[in-house]
Amino acid sequence: MSSKRVSLSQYLVEQQREHGNIPAQLRLLIEVVARACKRIAIAVNKGALGEVLGSAGSENVQGEVQKKLDIISNEVLIEANEWGGHLAAMASEEMDEIHVIPNRYPQGEFLLLFDPLDGSSNIDVNVSIGTIFSVLKKSPEHEGVSEADFLQPGRAQVAAGYCVYGPQTTLVLTVGAGVVMFTLDRELGGWFLVEQNVQVPADTKEFAINMSNMRHWAPPMKRYIDECLAGTTGPRGKDFNMRWIASMVADVHRILCRGGVFMYPWDAREPSKPGKLRLMYEANPMAFLIEQAGGAATNGQQRILDIQPTKLHERVSVILGSKHEVERVTGYHAEASQQ
Ligand code: AHG
Ligand code: MN
Ligand code: MN
Repeated sequence: MSSKRVSLSQYLVEQQREHGNIPAQLRLLIEVVARACKRIAIAVNKGALGEVLGSAGSENVQGEVQKKLDIISNEVLIEANEWGGHLAAMASEEMDEIHVIPNRYPQGEFLLLFDPLDGSSNIDVNVSIGTIFSVLKKSPEHEGVSEADFLQPGRAQVAAGYCVYGPQTTLVLTVGAGVVMFTLDRELGGWFLVEQNVQVPADTKEFAINMSNMRHWAPPMKRYIDECLAGTTGPRGKDFNMRWIASMVADVHRILCRGGVFMYPWDAREPSKPGKLRLMYEANPMAFLIEQAGGAATNGQQRILDIQPTKLHERVSVILGSKHEVERVTGYHAEASQQ
């Protein structure tokens, strides 16, 4: 083991010392979330032996069947974050309403949102899954906390990240000064820095989209993918590769590591919904990370981080990753709306 390893705690302390961007309460928050992710990673890793696989037999507010691990992960994150005094409230994919910090604990200034377990359909088949989180600041102008305090555009995030439970357990983080990655050392039980200044290449030959929905897409989306599929003989003049893990966290992780474009666009299956993914705890944290790594993220019309949310579980169309590809897809949407 190298003695030059930098732990998550050391990294956070040194960042605060050098740049003053991670005050003690935010450091505590990040460390607590990382600790919760470690517990989730252990549960994920035990699989059938830990009796964590399969359905919980309930539904969440979005009408999706909850898996046991969706609920376990949600509980782990709540328990870990309740007592530290760093939060005013939490919100989660798996809870209809916000969870206000109970009176027996002190209230802090931060709001934490999470998708406790992303990629639920992959849990039982041993494919990478993850936890996504977003941190906002509560306005100090009033006492108490309500859902309205959470309805801030993504650009107001003070931190965001995810943990991917894959062949390695990796925590990816931004506090608005670039993107860093830590990997969990299971023997030591600690997170260690493995990558600083993560950059998404502006160009790519790899796209990620659920192709089975193609017939339901809007024309600009269809146009973009048709052109990719046409390869060297088409207007793009190059061959593309496709990847779809069906865990946003793992697809975004690949893009942060080697570039690519991820899309979950609006489709006509449920025309009243803007898309499948949720703005506040899936799209916003991922858009923040991707932008911090030099990529781009839009809903086809608008930068995701500029969208003003109107409700906690709002959905959004997502196009994110390598900058030039995201600009191209967004441009196709603009052209279509002008015609
Ligand atoms: P979740 O498991 O938190 O509900 O999110 C699943 C999301 C996202 O992770 C993934 O990109 C997408 O759903 C997969 O959708 P398909 O089933 O259409 O592949
Ligand atoms: Mn999810
Ligand atoms: Mn989820």
